[in-house]
Amino acid sequence: MSITTGDFRFKVTSSTLFDKKLKHEPITCLTAYDYATARLVDEAGIDMILVGDSLAQTMLGYENTLPVTMDEMMHHTRAVRRAVKHAFLVADMPYASYHLGTRDTLRNAARFIKEGGAEAIKIEGGESRAPLVHRLQDAEIPVVGHIGLTPQSVHRMGGYKVQGKSMRDIEQLMRDATALDRAGIVALVLEGIPREVAAMITAEVEAPTIGIGAGPDCDGQVLVIHDILGLTFTPPAKFVRRYGDVGAMITDAVKAFRDDVKSHSYPSDAESYHLPKEAQATLEVVNHRKQALRK
Ligand code: KIV
Repeated sequence: MSITTGDFRFKVTSSTLFDKKLKHEPITCLTAYDYATARLVDEAGIDMILVGDSLAQTMLGYENTLPVTMDEMMHHTRAVRRAVKHAFLVADMPYASYHLGTRDTLRNAARFIKEGGAEAIKIEGGESRAPLVHRLQDAEIPVVGHIGLTPQSVHRMGGYKVQGKSMRDIEQLMRDATALDRAGIVALVLEGIPREVAAMITAEVEAPTIGIGAGPDCDGQVLVIHDILGLTFTPPAKFVRRYGDVGAMITDAVKAFRDDVKSHSYPSDAESYHLPKEAQATLEVVNHRKQALRK
């Protein structure tokens, strides 16, 4: 059996992502945080799966991504690893897992590769992270960069605001992108920046760019799976396209189950287990005797 690009059984690697950029083939990426979802996403032929720290909000109900821990991220990464056969698997380094020194960063990043089975890790931040990217590369850990609206900087940014609107900010973003690119990142997430700026960065860097709220000229697109499925509890951002209403499906199914139990229509006889005929007959005899004794 021959295995070719486009075949959903083809294993996507970091080289595949660079090839796709060269061939102008859009790269698809979605987040996934658990076995079942990751399996469906992988089997649908998505190129890259990100165990994003957005799971702090989507899975764990935190207000932002800052509280999620290494252990929580590891737990979800391992579950996703068990499901993913085809996609390139990236794990997000949570806040404070790479901010407190190189030794700490390397140890945490290595855990994602060694124990979590990730093929790359993602860190937020620009040119100041370039030396760290070098150190991670030395430790054989591929790195995905993430610049623009970086949710772990929510307090520094003063909220979730589109970045890169002034000339000064655009120049900084270009410096960030090129520094990370030179340091050897395998992909670069561009989040919440004007499409014109994302297009300039995409043309400038060798690494494939993966946009989220960064317009159509990136080499690929990523969205949060809960957003595209309608599994969120707040209004979606402008860039989100909803492809399903799983939230409504869950509510309808749960209400139907509740009503069936209350009305005694679930479970039916067909949904019940039965004793073998002989045991049933014996039980009937025993019950008859008990009733007779009571009289
Ligand atoms: O955590 C996440 O889901 C992300 C994507 C939005 C890129 O970082």
